[in-house]
Amino acid sequence: MLVTGGAGYVGSHTVRALAAAGFHPVTLDDGSTGHPELVRWGELVREDLAASRDLAKLLGFYKVGAVLHFAARSIVGESYEKPELYRRVNVAGTRNLLEAMRAAAVPLLVYSSSAAVYGIPETVPISEEEPCQPISPYGETKLEAERLIEDAGRRHGLRAISLRYFNAAGADGELGEWHVPETHLIPRALAAALTGAEPIEIYGTDYPTPDGTCRRDYMHVADVADFHLLALRGLLENGPTGVFNLGTGQAHSVREVLRVVAESCPGRRLEIRERERRPGDPPVLAADARRFREAFRWQPRRSELANIVTTARRWAAELCPARAGS
Ligand code: UFG
Repeated sequence: MLVTGGAGYVGSHTVRALAAAGFHPVTLDDGSTGHPELVRWGELVREDLAASRDLAKLLGFYKVGAVLHFAARSIVGESYEKPELYRRVNVAGTRNLLEAMRAAAVPLLVYSSSAAVYGIPETVPISEEEPCQPISPYGETKLEAERLIEDAGRRHGLRAISLRYFNAAGADGELGEWHVPETHLIPRALAAALTGAEPIEIYGTDYPTPDGTCRRDYMHVADVADFHLLALRGLLENGPTGVFNLGTGQAHSVREVLRVVAESCPGRRLEIRERERRPGDPPVLAADARRFREAFRWQPRRSELANIVTTARRWAAELCPARAGS
């Protein structure tokens, strides 16, 4: 199996899950946002997906039977500042991968898409039938990549599953969330509580939600990785293709998350500052996850918020090479 972006957060957890399930993962990652030290299962090939001219050869060399495609830029705010970078990595990278897969006759793909393709949904929980109207350049590039994949299905018979992630979170043993810079709520809040260096800022308290802060559907990263394995197994067994939401259906507000973070750090003070909204944040994102549940007969097992925060805390305080404090 080729795993693009296998040195990243969800990618590295999936590489480990693949190896544990008896597959042979090969990671392709340029190290621009991922961390090579997180790739401990199978080979790591350092290459820029969008620029690579040897991808088809690589697929042949490793006798790749399927690709799991994580490699992407994924920070909504950054995508407004650097839309060309997002187009290059997320769209041109996917196009290059699809061309190589076609040339090397690799027939199966699991793609990491995003709830950002929906924009501000009309109906929550969000089903896959919801119109896709992304509001950020990031969401636009993820949708465009999905469409390239659908097109490859129609034209060349590629069998693919696009998983529209909501919020992957938490950590699992020796792996966890390690973004530089870190923009995500849970690791930022933990860093604030563990180091006391800076307060955690709430981006917007005037949203149309019960406590005025945004609500998100957090899924434990190990459950996210397991979903990928199920999707892959389904493809290998000629099962369903298409788009699937990847969420729990339960949303938590920013204030609820901060309460659980504070509880997970007894003896520490979590200082909170309220500020204006961050561009590109829909008020509520929660998945209607029925399609995946019914097709694959599976439920997330580790995604209670308290477990997400406890595992993320241990990673941040004890295990992450860039530790937040202990
Ligand atoms: N937030 C804060 N303070 C912070 C960080 C985040 O209040 O310091 C808020 C955000 O405004 C948002 C919520 O916490 O309402 C969650 O923010 P994250 O940055 O943790 O996650 P996002 O929902 O923005 O991002 C996730 C994925 C993206 C994807 C996006 C879809 O990480 O890749 O969902 O909207 F694009």
